Amino acid sequence: MARKFFVTTALPYANGPFHIGHIMEYIQADIWVRFQRMLGNVVHFVCADDAHGAPIMLKAESEGITPQELVARIAADRPKYLNGFHIAFDHWYSTDSPENTELSQDIYRRLKAAGLTYQKPVEQFYDPVKGMFLADRYIKGECPNCHAKDQYADACEVCSIVNTPTDLINPYSTLSGAKPVMKTSDHYFFRLSDPRCVEFLTEWLTAPDRLQPQVVNKAREWLTGKDDEALGDWDISRDAPYFGIPIPDAPGKYFYVWLDAPVGYLASLKNYFASGKARAQGEARTFEEFLAAADTEQLHFIGKDIIYFHTLFWPAMLKFAGAPYKVPNHVYAHGFITVSGEKMSKSRGTGISPLRYLGVGMNPEWLRYYIAAKLNSNVEDLDFNPDDFIARVNSDLVGKYVNIASRAASFITRFFDGALAYSGDKDLLAREAHGLAKAVAGHYEARELGKAMREIMALADRINHDFDAHQPWVLAKDAAANKVELQDVCSRALQGFRLLTVLIAPVLPEVARRVARDLFGMSRGFIWSDADVLPERVNAYQHLMTRVDPKQLDALFDDGSGAAAGGAAAAKASAASAKATAAPAAKGTSGQSSSASTKQTASPNVTDPNQQVPADGTISIDEFKRVDLRVARIANAEHIEGADKLLKLTLDLGSETRTVFAGIKSAYDPAKLIGRLTVVVANLAPRKMKFGVSQGMVLAASGEAPGLYLLSPDSGAQPGMRIS
Ligand code: MSP
Ligand code: ZN
Repeated sequence: MARKFFVTTALPYANGPFHIGHIMEYIQADIWVRFQRMLGNVVHFVCADDAHGAPIMLKAESEGITPQELVARIAADRPKYLNGFHIAFDHWYSTDSPENTELSQDIYRRLKAAGLTYQKPVEQFYDPVKGMFLADRYIKGECPNCHAKDQYADACEVCSIVNTPTDLINPYSTLSGAKPVMKTSDHYFFRLSDPRCVEFLTEWLTAPDRLQPQVVNKAREWLTGKDDEALGDWDISRDAPYFGIPIPDAPGKYFYVWLDAPVGYLASLKNYFASGKARAQGEARTFEEFLAAADTEQLHFIGKDIIYFHTLFWPAMLKFAGAPYKVPNHVYAHGFITVSGEKMSKSRGTGISPLRYLGVGMNPEWLRYYIAAKLNSNVEDLDFNPDDFIARVNSDLVGKYVNIASRAASFITRFFDGALAYSGDKDLLAREAHGLAKAVAGHYEARELGKAMREIMALADRINHDFDAHQPWVLAKDAAANKVELQDVCSRALQGFRLLTVLIAPVLPEVARRVARDLFGMSRGFIWSDADVLPERVNAYQHLMTRVDPKQLDALFDDGSGAAAGGAAAAKASAASAKATAAPAAKGTSGQSSSASTKQTASPNVTDPNQQVPADGTISIDEFKRVDLRVARIANAEHIEGADKLLKLTLDLGSETRTVFAGIKSAYDPAKLIGRLTVVVANLAPRKMKFGVSQGMVLAASGEAPGLYLLSPDSGAQPGMRIS
């Protein structure tokens, strides 16, 4: 009997494009899903944008668009990434949807009927200017312990003390700069402390093989609490204005985004059923029947930062809402991807931009393999290391795997017209293949992808070794005399290659598709049981995969500072020539050093080293046009510990957010900058600075007289507008 799965990945916030962490999660889940499908199991693999919450509402507001418009713009970009990395969700939807409203409200009503919700007044900071309650992340103030200014309550950057917003001295709202006042409002709560919930969760968490051991430990710690501080009730409401789902019979109250976000899994599935796509996969039941069925396995792939929500709130919500809702069968958490050992930052300049990866011509299957090779079933971080990446892809995928086909197929094509023949025991070969496939299947099933890849590469080593030991290139010198041995050794190599391809197909779907179609002339893709079938014929080998060129990694990481490995020399050379030719940049307007601020192209290799500036210092209109000036909104401005001149600015450029370090500390109080518009050089090469990477430069005027004056456009200008 085929197993039936409902698989999700975490729903990404719809306030920004995917970063490499998202892609990593999708690759992990996609590999697992493809493996299940090859076994003949039915998988409904869905995701959606997580649309609600205050950050999205505020971001849309700052751009002068509706949250729905913002979400739609972000959603429109998703397919580029998903198709680009061969991530094959069956359905992509949004939590801002009728289905999610209906399901969230339904679940809430059932929890209420079960006596698991209540309301009580909560006193909270309120921004009287903005007219909204403030989550802690929108409040800053002076640390009561070390008196550092502009600190968030959750952790002082200077002394690391954790405060509550009420402890802060002179707190202010980062949204308006206003002094927050305390205000009381009724909030709705989910009674997680109810003995029924505690009893259920205790049992649910410890069921054998449901969760990873590390996850169970964490969740139990939260549930029972350290120092007797057991899990409290969960505040599930937010007051208007809020972008979210209205709470039934509670005017002006909305569900907190984390209540409706996981319900979005079900909303996406429901919409997928309504679209007819489930039926197309042979699922005749309704959404409700499928969801409720005892044999439906519901699985969530998530990152380690959201274990809390998925192992406590979510199962409890589902459990006490009752049928057709069913608690998840598994929640699988992964660690975070780091890049060269550094925590990934969502902004440009560090980390890997998925689109840039594709844009510089890197093969998505390289990344899929690399991630697979480094993943295990634990909650461990995974590092993307460029040298390691090059080595693994080139030596494993190309050197060991692809090479088998190119070497062996050429003899078969040349001497045997594509026919394979085995002189040994074919049943034995098939049995061995079967055993190997079984071992590898076990690793995939257990999400031990690294083990699966090692098993596969060990097999590739054995195949290469056997092939080399028979020296087919020597046999081929007298192919007529050595016909049997030559054909046998090449046939076994190709049988091995086909087996390898089946085993690695979940990771390399595109290569596997071409191997099946082009090399073995199949009219369908590989399924798992193809592993023990011995091929009879091959077609001429067609190119399958190139090696990684280290230059591609330079291009991937090149931030224009010349710091990227390998390409550094070239970048430096062109930077030097640009320095001699570019017009002088405004002085003292940014923390960028003068050598950086004279580099005006996004990519050093675009600079024409022969370009000369006319003697009178004029530049052509085309040269001016190369400077990409944009309107930016200062979303945040803050002091930097240890910096005398710099402020750290977070700039909203409409479609993206940038961090810029600007030398304007002497002239501006950061709190007063927040919200105002200014002008940024948007295509200035990012520059690594002491305090981080600066991704542009803001413009300011200065002269003989003291003072520094930040530029701003007339009112009405929108973030991202081009200045020309
Ligand atoms: N919207 C919530 C999830 C709601 S699920 C009902 C959210 N969104 S997120 O966009 O911040 O993160 C989406 C997923 O990406 C999460 O599983 C998160 O753990 C994962 N990752 C975010 N950064 C990551 C890395 N650096 N590495 C790997 N995964 C990471 O949380
Ligand atoms: Zn402090």
